[in-house]
Amino acid sequence: MTASVDKLNPRGDWRPDSWQDRPAVQQPTYPDPDALVQVLRKLTSLPPLVTSWEVNALRSQLARAAAGDYFVLQGGDCAESFDECQSSIISNRLKILLQMSLVLVHGLKKRVVRIGRFAGQYAKPRSTDTETRGDVSLPSYRGDNINKSEFTAEARIPDPQLLASGHAHAAMTLNFVRALVDGGFADLHHPEYWDLDFVKHSPLAAEYQRMVASISDSLKFMETLAGSKLGEIDRVNFYTSHEALHLHYEQAQTRQVPHQAGWYNLATHFPWIGMRTADAKGAHVEYCRGIRNPVGIKVGPGMTADWLRQLVEILDPENEPGRLTLIHRFGADAVGDHLPALIDAVRGTGRCVLWMSDPMHGNTETTRDGYKTRRFDNILRELTTSFDVHTDNGSHLGGVHFELTGEDVTECIGGARGLAEVDLKRAYRSQVDPRLNYEQALEMAMLIVRKNQNGS
Ligand code: PEP
Ligand code: CO
Repeated sequence: MTASVDKLNPRGDWRPDSWQDRPAVQQPTYPDPDALVQVLRKLTSLPPLVTSWEVNALRSQLARAAAGDYFVLQGGDCAESFDECQSSIISNRLKILLQMSLVLVHGLKKRVVRIGRFAGQYAKPRSTDTETRGDVSLPSYRGDNINKSEFTAEARIPDPQLLASGHAHAAMTLNFVRALVDGGFADLHHPEYWDLDFVKHSPLAAEYQRMVASISDSLKFMETLAGSKLGEIDRVNFYTSHEALHLHYEQAQTRQVPHQAGWYNLATHFPWIGMRTADAKGAHVEYCRGIRNPVGIKVGPGMTADWLRQLVEILDPENEPGRLTLIHRFGADAVGDHLPALIDAVRGTGRCVLWMSDPMHGNTETTRDGYKTRRFDNILRELTTSFDVHTDNGSHLGGVHFELTGEDVTECIGGARGLAEVDLKRAYRSQVDPRLNYEQALEMAMLIVRKNQNGS
């Protein structure tokens, strides 16, 4: 191999399509493979959704979080839907993430890296290939990029045109997010721009407003001292993330760019490998091995120390700061049993990873009425236990990963308003996993701060 090839492809025998030589689970089978080829050809030629500079900037910020200087907030829908690509839903999601990050910055006294589970979270891994209702079984819904959620045989057929539509919806979402953020929506001088109307009626309103007032006072004080407006404050960054699940889609957006070595996935800043696709010899790990983006891996109860060690070595061969984020999701009762050995195993590799907690996916249950839900108390308990386990094992938790929405949905039980099982039917809208509503999400941010201030 020549030196110039090495520079372009520092990861040796990797190619954007080398994953195709490995077993690829959770991939749809299209009835018309030629139609898929046509769509992928088009996707390959479209402009990217993000840039390599942004990807590199995020990698540096994740490195700061791994070092304990920054804290990461990652959140959004379990699965975005094309129907919900609407201005108010997008801006409300941005608002709740901004509010949570404000609470975290203020309480933790750290900069917060904001990563949306948005602008591309359109493909879902499923535990079973079929869904049964009564005596009818159909292929499972796999996200709007693959098939439709209606329970008809027609809707569940994978359609490659949906990939093109997914790319367009991701572009529209990101365009709106960028315009809002660049236009001053996220300006700390104007927190009223991103007040969610319903927060006024929330049991948490007073605490939140007190904090906003205190930030405004500090800002005025600093600006009086400095004699000028603090410029950085009126701009915040949002990064995008989605599960790198549909590998043909991801490959079509994998590009080389001038003046940078290697290959970038330019469909998102931060792709992650889901728990069901984390086989060290599998296609998803092979694909992610070669891209320059920072990469997340979900770590669940089935993961052994050996397996995780292999993943860390394959995905971060050079111990590159910010490259790897391990997002653990064990469940409130299991995290204390599983996490210490894994922290130890990763330490043994000498790699400096960022640890995050996803307190959602290990705490899913089904009610007697058949609603998939999660209890606020279990989510919080997994989080607080995770903070403690890291501290007790000489590590630290550098971020949190939530499924949440800026809407007033009733999908998770509990929180300050005490949502009960009977309330779930009022506004249960998720097609996949239950999300924290705006109020539960804001409360969670406040409780993270309380935990870090009091240790309880
Ligand atoms: C998810 O994040 O929606 C998900 C499916 O998570 P996991 O891979 O951890 O189960
Ligand atoms: Co989910």
